[in-house]
Amino acid sequence: MTSVIAYCRSGYEADTAKELSERTAKLNVYGYPVFKPNQGYVEFTFYEPLKESFCTSEFNIKDTVFARQLIWLFAQLPELDATDRIAPILDEVSRHSHKFGAVWVEYPDTDTGKGLAKFCRKFAVPLRQALRKKQHLSKQENLKLPVLHVFFTDFNICKLAVSYPRTRSPFELGVCRLKFPSAAPSRSTLKLEEAIITMLDEQQRKTVFRAGARAVDLGACPGGWTYQLVTREMYVEAVDNGTIDDKLMATGQVVHFAADGFAYKPQHQKVDLLVCDMIEQPDRVAKLMGDWLVTGRSLHAIFNLKLPMKQRYETVSAALLSLKARLAKLNDTFIVTARHLYHDRDEVTVVVIRQC
Ligand SMILES: C[S@@+](CC[C@H](N)C(=O)[O-])C[C@H]1O[C@@H](n2cnc3c(N)ncnc32)[C@H](O)[C@@H]1O
Repeated sequence: MTSVIAYCRSGYEADTAKELSERTAKLNVYGYPVFKPNQGYVEFTFYEPLKESFCTSEFNIKDTVFARQLIWLFAQLPELDATDRIAPILDEVSRHSHKFGAVWVEYPDTDTGKGLAKFCRKFAVPLRQALRKKQHLSKQENLKLPVLHVFFTDFNICKLAVSYPRTRSPFELGVCRLKFPSAAPSRSTLKLEEAIITMLDEQQRKTVFRAGARAVDLGACPGGWTYQLVTREMYVEAVDNGTIDDKLMATGQVVHFAADGFAYKPQHQKVDLLVCDMIEQPDRVAKLMGDWLVTGRSLHAIFNLKLPMKQRYETVSAALLSLKARLAKLNDTFIVTARHLYHDRDEVTVVVIRQC
């Protein structure tokens, strides 16, 4: 393997490229990114072939912020014949030693890419059959095996790549699609739901989102994040000068405080979870989150850093660095992860879990 493709939100190619360069260099492997603005992915080529363990275990999608998926390129087919696209794909796959557990026929998440969605969905059916016939694909979908990615950038241009169970996103296109809960008061609810599903493991979810636990939601209105906490049977202090949803108040699990989130102190000295979706400068939010975690006012935190600026990668890196430096001085250990989620827009979500 000499190249990895990272899918990302359209417009975030430069941030993804910087991140790939820095993260791979930290792992002592070097290369260069290639991308066009708004193409929805970055191709990163390494100067030297990689050890398999780098792709299968060391370079994990979960350790990246801006990449939605990481797929390892093994062939490019730039001139497919529209009358038979399958034969050249089979040829290339037979040269590759893996047995795949699934095939995902994908496209960039861009306006142009979306024009390929229907074609990709249809094409996956005969391709899957042909791969099974040649025994390149398991009979039943098995996501414990590598996945074959057939990544179309046009109807007759595709890249073939592989992803590995421990280092990939479990979602096709790297996109966690969620149904909007009709009782939720805002679409923002999906950001927190996606974070809970994709950024915490089973044990962390059980610990942090315990029925009866106490949370503070800073910048809560109209209540999309509070809704996620309430449906998990938590008690919420919702802090915002805005108006909170009546149905949430009727649950009896929410108390609304029309107050400044930067000055607010919890009603019972400490809470299990602090969440924050205030539109504020990332360094101010990161400092506030640090204050709550360092003083023990909250055990854990989930918050968004808003990124309306150009230097988004640098801004996120600086905010996380200062937060981690403060947490590192404490006796407790913290797991800090940040991801640009599918439901995030110009913002990233940060999860801080205190290991008790
Ligand atoms: C993106 S909205 C939050 C949406 C909310 N998470 C939801 O799911 O419905 C940002 C909110 O932050 C609030 N806000 C901004 N600055 C604040 C501050 N200093 N203190 C409290 N709330 C603040 C705004 O009033 C606004 O309601």
